[in-house]
This record gives sequence, C-alpha cells and structure tokens, in this order.
Amino acid sequence: MKYDRIDSNLYTANRKKFTERMTANTLAVFNSNDIFPISADSTMPFQQHRDILYLSGVDQEESILVLFPNASNPAHREVLFLKETSDLIAVWEGEKLTKETAFLTSGIKTVYWLQQFPTIFKQLMAEAHGMYLNTNEHLRANTEVETREDRFIKQVKQDYPAHQVHKSAPIMHKIRSIKEAVELELMQRACKITEAGVRRLLAFIKPGVWEYEIEAELAHEFLRNRSKGFAYTPIVASGKNACVLHYIENNQQCQDGDVILLDVGAEYANYSSDLTRCLPVNGRFTARQKAVYNAVLHVKNEAQKLLVPGTIMAEYHKQVGSLMEEQLIGLGLISMEDIKSQNPDWPAYKKYFMHGTSHFLGLDTHDVGIWHEPISAGMVFTCEPGIYIPEEGLGIRLEDDLVVQASGAPFNLMGDIPIEAEAIEDLMNA
Ligand code: GLY
Ligand code: MN
Ligand code: MN
Repeated sequence: MKYDRIDSNLYTANRKKFTERMTANTLAVFNSNDIFPISADSTMPFQQHRDILYLSGVDQEESILVLFPNASNPAHREVLFLKETSDLIAVWEGEKLTKETAFLTSGIKTVYWLQQFPTIFKQLMAEAHGMYLNTNEHLRANTEVETREDRFIKQVKQDYPAHQVHKSAPIMHKIRSIKEAVELELMQRACKITEAGVRRLLAFIKPGVWEYEIEAELAHEFLRNRSKGFAYTPIVASGKNACVLHYIENNQQCQDGDVILLDVGAEYANYSSDLTRCLPVNGRFTARQKAVYNAVLHVKNEAQKLLVPGTIMAEYHKQVGSLMEEQLIGLGLISMEDIKSQNPDWPAYKKYFMHGTSHFLGLDTHDVGIWHEPISAGMVFTCEPGIYIPEEGLGIRLEDDLVVQASGAPFNLMGDIPIEAEAIEDLMNA
C-alpha cells in the first residue's frame, strides 16, 4: 500500500454502524474482490471491494469478514478470514497481512486463515437465524462479471436454504454516504493531490501538446504523492472531443484556440476525488468560450448552494435544469419557443446539458447513497454542470467536490483549485 496506515478506530466505528442496524441473531458476510485475470498469467491491478474495506480496512484479496453481534462466543462476534501468510510465502508473494497486522489494521481480534472458513462458518450458521448478503445494488452497476461475493452468495443460499436472507446493501448505502472526519481528511488529501496535478498543467499546456502527454503529467504528479493514480479513467478532451461525455482515448493533439476539458481526479487510500476543469490551450479564452464558461460557472455556483441538509436530489436536479435553461437562452442556444414546445420528459436544455449535476462521492467515484431521502451533513457530492456545443467544437464542464454542512453553505474540498476564467488565464501566462 502506498498510503499511510489509517487509524483502526475508523473501522471499529464503521462496523458498529452496521451491526446496530442488524436484526437479532443474524450474521453478515463481506467478501473481498478477486484479482481479475487478463490472459496467460497477467492480472489487473487489485482493487478491493469497497464494503469489506469500509468495515475492516483490509486491502487484500481472498479475505472474508463475518459480523455476528449475538454469537455466543464473544471471539466470534467479528471475525476476519485471510489468505495464509508465512515467511516463506512472503518471499514469493511479498508482504501480506499477518494476524497481528490484520488486527492493527482493522481492530478485529479474531483472525483465522481462509482454510478454516468452512468449519467455523458452519458453527456460526448453526447458531444464526438469518444472514445478511451483500449484493451490488448501485443503480448504474454493470453486473455481467461474477464476483467473489456473487459466487459466495450462490453457494451459501444453496448450503443454507432455511436461513432468512437480509440485504446488506441498504445499510451500506446509508452508512457509507455519511463520512467520518477521518474519511473527509482522506478525501481532502485526494483533492490536494489533484490540485497539485492541475497546477503542474497550468504551466505545461501549450498548443501542440498531446492529450496523452497531459495525462502523463497528471499520473506522475499523483504517484509521487502516494496515490495509486487516477480514481477513474481520466478524460483529457480537447476541442470537439469534450462533447463526447466519456471520451477516454486521450490521443489527439491540442490545437491553438481550442479549450481542453480535463475530468481527472487522484485517489488516495482508495478514496476518490473527482474534478473537472477547462483550460484554453493557448492560455486565453475567446469571448465566446468565456461566455459559455461563465454560464457554466454561474450554474455551478448557484447549484452548489442548494447542497444543504433536507434537499431532495430529484428536486435539486430540476432546479439546476431551470438555472441552465436561463443560461442557454442567454447564450442563444435555445429559445423560449423551444421551451414552450419541449417534451417534459426531455426538456430543451438537455440538448446541451444531458447528464446529471451531482453524485455521491467517497470510496467509489459514483459512491453509494440513498437517492430518494433528504440529504444530510457529512455527505459528499460533486457539482458538475456542463454545456456541450459540438457545432462549435466546445464542451465546458466544471466540477468540484462538496461536503454538506450541518448549517450554511457546503464545504468545497476543491476550493483552492483555480476555477475563475481570469485566474486560470493569469496562471497560464505567469
Ligand atoms: N468523472 C466521472 C464523473 O464526473 O462523474
Ligand atoms: Mn468527473
Ligand atoms: Mn463526477
């Protein structure tokens, strides 16, 4: 791990949040992710399942966490099962968690090797009436690949058909959405690393630079700051490429007079930052580019004021739609006539602003959270309006990460990253 060890009190507190929401006499199981294969003996870099990570801090494959608050044996109220390590295994595979370091990481005293799981789990299930299973209920999840968790669920339902099944996902979505102070510090650190990357670019971007050269500068800055790298596939999109919302090729040369859209964020300790900035390739926006830029900035500034306790996100998205409508009329992109004759299911403004404004942010970039409940303090959201005009070869999106406060305006984790058009021009020409 490149990141500094996180105080295990975070994970103890997180487990408490989960267990106090469990029904009596039930247990919950959380599996790590697999190391996904490529072909031959190549594998993808490991990415831990965010739920076992949130509840234990264990950032290692082939790990299982069992929570059973009513277990008759106090040692079995929380148990970790880990891939066995030894001095010999360490020589071949590198450092893995020992029982001692697993305790230091997670605060969990009972740690067994994975081969003991079937025997111990059988004992626990004989005592439990029901089990919490952890299915992926993210609204945008693509569930084609069978995960280790999926395989476990299939097997356990077959082996224990008489046990009641409960869902972990609603609990996880609720508790993960409200961040602890320690988590906010980690997210702030991720945002600071992103800031360092952006500042590096302000002096680097010039006409003729290639999009992948910009990506490389960011990767360098992120890694030298103890980040694993990008929190999500970076979008480095110059000119008309910015109008392709998920443009990730990053293989074009940046032309004098174009604007480049950067949707890039560092991760730190598996927490995401998620930023978008738009920079003029030659250091100066044209009048039209600046007008569109300022329209987006206005919508963002007004929208983020609405990220206060009690806001319902569906209502918020409608309000942002109205803010955007006004700006698009001002820019001559839509007319009152377009609005009068619009389809209520696809309002006129969606021609130029076709995505959502905000999403939960945390261990996942599109983090889990309960979308239909009013938002509350400690939640972190992006705010990322945009205007995309393919006929002008111009796409502008601006995105910051905001923490909802108990009262007043949200706290901007990216408040130090330049966003005013003039500030960006000044820094690019310094
Ligand atoms: N970078 C992904 C997003 O902004 O949602
Ligand atoms: Mn983004
Ligand atoms: Mn985002």
